[in-house]
Amino acid sequence: MGYGTEHRSVLREDALVLAHYYAPAAVQAAADFVGDSFALARKATESEKPVIVFCGVSFMGESAKILCPEKTVYLPAPDAHCPMADMADADEIARIRAAVPDLAVVTYVNSSAALKALSDVIVTSSNAVRVVSRLRERNIYFIPDRNLGAFVAAQVPEKTFYFGSGGCPIHASATADEARAALAAHPGAELLAHPECPREVCALAAYVGSTAGIIDYAQRAEASSFVIGTEAGTLYELSRRCPQKRFYLLREDFYCGDMKKITPEAVARVFRGEVAPLELPAEVIERAARALRRMLELAK
Ligand code: 13P
Ligand code: SF4
Repeated sequence: MGYGTEHRSVLREDALVLAHYYAPAAVQAAADFVGDSFALARKATESEKPVIVFCGVSFMGESAKILCPEKTVYLPAPDAHCPMADMADADEIARIRAAVPDLAVVTYVNSSAALKALSDVIVTSSNAVRVVSRLRERNIYFIPDRNLGAFVAAQVPEKTFYFGSGGCPIHASATADEARAALAAHPGAELLAHPECPREVCALAAYVGSTAGIIDYAQRAEASSFVIGTEAGTLYELSRRCPQKRFYLLREDFYCGDMKKITPEAVARVFRGEVAPLELPAEVIERAARALRRMLELAK
């Protein structure tokens, strides 16, 4: 991938521009559709446009390519990469598969295409509990996010869980003391937390769920102020949907540097033909598609 000038320019009318809630506000404002990772993956499969411009980190664009291999998918900032995507190991997956019978390898969508290809099913934060509780396998190896894994395990007590050791450097670094301090600074505010946050933080929350879940909860709730335990970009959609409510970040630096690489200029480079389309090996697409499609089926 690169920024050469040898690629074809992209016509705006041929492209569906998808943006995650963590992308910069100006990018969200110019997108055709803004959502959490599950809604964006589903939107990609529903689109009739031949091109997808995915304003998110690399695993998001890869998921769109895996689900829609016939489409041309662009990542405006190909070096925007979620560090959690590589926090699991093929050897460890093989070792657990060999040791534990009746096992499903359940992989969070924040993972590389290569890891997805080794998985039985993919989940996102918005469907993980539903998908895992519908699996026929009794044992679950949940990778890479240990916090999301623990959140799911607490709600699916009938299954036995083995956990990976990965985590989001931003969400997992939140502490209960920080959450308590933010709540004390804003009396009456409710804490809304992403399940990538540690369990002690989630325990203080009025609501724990995906980015889209947090936004929907804030819109429906009677409370008028909220401490937001997820990435700063979410404040844009929260303020747009609930202009009369007040939102405060759990911590000022709840900020994903990789998501912020997707600038309006990076998006413009795609349309000028200066970015190479995303390519993945055919065998990776084929195997990862099985796990992603199983998620879409079980999440219905
Ligand atoms: P969502 O599944 O809520 O979109 O979260 C994606 C993500 O990267 C969280 O850090
Ligand atoms: Fe990855 Fe965390 Fe950024 Fe989400 S917020 S993309 S999990 S680094």
